[in-house]
Amino acid sequence: MGDYMQIPNYEKARSRSKNEVKVRDFKLNQEYKKIGLNKKFFLKTYGCQMNEHDSENIKGMLEKMSFSETMEMEDADFILLNTCSIRENAHNKAFGMLGRIKHLKALKPNIIVALCGCMAQEVGVVEEILKKYKFVNFVFGTHNLDDLPKLLDQSFKNPKLNIEVYSMEGDIVENIPVSRVSKYKAYVNIIYGCDKFCTYCIVPYTRGKQRSRHKEDIIKEVKELVKDGYQEVTLLGQNVNAYGKDLYDDYELADLLVDVAKTNIPRIRFLTSHPWDFSDKLVEVIKKYDNIVNFVHLPVQSGSSRILKLMGRRYTSESYKELYDKLRSIDNISITTDIIVGFPGETEEDFEDTLDLVNYCKFDSAFTFIYSPRENTPASKLEDKVPLEEKEQRLYRLNELINKYSKESNLKMVGKTYEVLTEGYSVKEGMLFGYTETNKLVNFKGSSDAIGKIVKVLIRDAKSFSLDGEIIE
Ligand code: 5AD
Ligand code: SF4
Repeated sequence: MGDYMQIPNYEKARSRSKNEVKVRDFKLNQEYKKIGLNKKFFLKTYGCQMNEHDSENIKGMLEKMSFSETMEMEDADFILLNTCSIRENAHNKAFGMLGRIKHLKALKPNIIVALCGCMAQEVGVVEEILKKYKFVNFVFGTHNLDDLPKLLDQSFKNPKLNIEVYSMEGDIVENIPVSRVSKYKAYVNIIYGCDKFCTYCIVPYTRGKQRSRHKEDIIKEVKELVKDGYQEVTLLGQNVNAYGKDLYDDYELADLLVDVAKTNIPRIRFLTSHPWDFSDKLVEVIKKYDNIVNFVHLPVQSGSSRILKLMGRRYTSESYKELYDKLRSIDNISITTDIIVGFPGETEEDFEDTLDLVNYCKFDSAFTFIYSPRENTPASKLEDKVPLEEKEQRLYRLNELINKYSKESNLKMVGKTYEVLTEGYSVKEGMLFGYTETNKLVNFKGSSDAIGKIVKVLIRDAKSFSLDGEIIE
């Protein structure tokens, strides 16, 4: 089997051609439909919403192959890790898990173990698996999710380690079965891959060329969700603002949002936005349509234009603020961001520019990270003299400020009524939980009839990360 191994290659992963993206249709081979009978799978997912949604497709395929899911790894016949590469700690978690699985496999040698997702696309990870984790049965990447049934079948017949990872620009696969986590809100991919090549980021290498799904396929999927009673869709992509650029002359994200809004799905979200491609038309469309949420996640990464340039972000602190102000002109909008501290060569002054930007924008909330060098990325080759303790201090100072503004933005909501999509029982006893249009978590008193519905909730109290309230309708 070794002769047929397909291992990742960064040269190929980096290439970007004008070749047309092929769309293929998933078909499950008849002979694979029963291989999971009386067998259980355990699936662990790391990383972003793209990965969560890939896992919904993986579950969909496994269920069509007659497998059932178990939440106990020890009970599984098939263990699959859907991994993330974004920062070092995502790696550590997945490798830690492989360590646990190694012990389990020593006791139960017939278990099939596989790894997929972004880490599978990394040369160094695959080398390490070949050296230190030979008990793994197979590895497949982000470009051939639909090979899972075939690879699993091969593994049951011949459990020797097989690597099948393609480094390529990528195709689009339609109609992969899907088993969604929620009955009320759904992820819908609109664009795969990324061509931005920010210097710190591994995603353009792990997820391939930017490629949009055809609008007809997206609208068809949303219409089916409406028919099934879904209340909310999140249109997904690494950079949703680039939607359509590779496919149409005059159809962009704003146009897609209008078409999705016309399906009458009650709520439409979109994730993640890049400031570079954010059009005025999009700002207008968010304003105009009630079912397009007043919520934008707009990663800034740094408030220093010098660092932004080194990051390859192609905007400045000033142009970010201009866009930010346009968005803030939308009533009741919530804007969140991502910020990296300790990028190679970030000075105290650069960091203070970031604090200044946060003071200017007063984000509703933010995800903050310490820079983590990623294999093969341009930034990982830059000299980095800032000690880790200094970076940790900066993260702490930044978080203090972010939390202050989160709390302020939540406090403004107290005494007012908001629509909340109720998702289920809260971890707080006797309470329900759900999210506002602006993505604020609300715990509230109310009857279980509210689950799966959009209800009106009066906000009584605010914390940094959540709100408390009670249902009034
Ligand atoms: N180190 C730290 N944070 C990173 N992110 C992306 N790459 C890195 C990295 N190498 C952060 C960015 C991005 C979010 C998803 O993860 O802030 O927006
Ligand atoms: Fe992680 Fe990025 Fe891959 Fe998502 S796309 S799983 S965040 S590396």
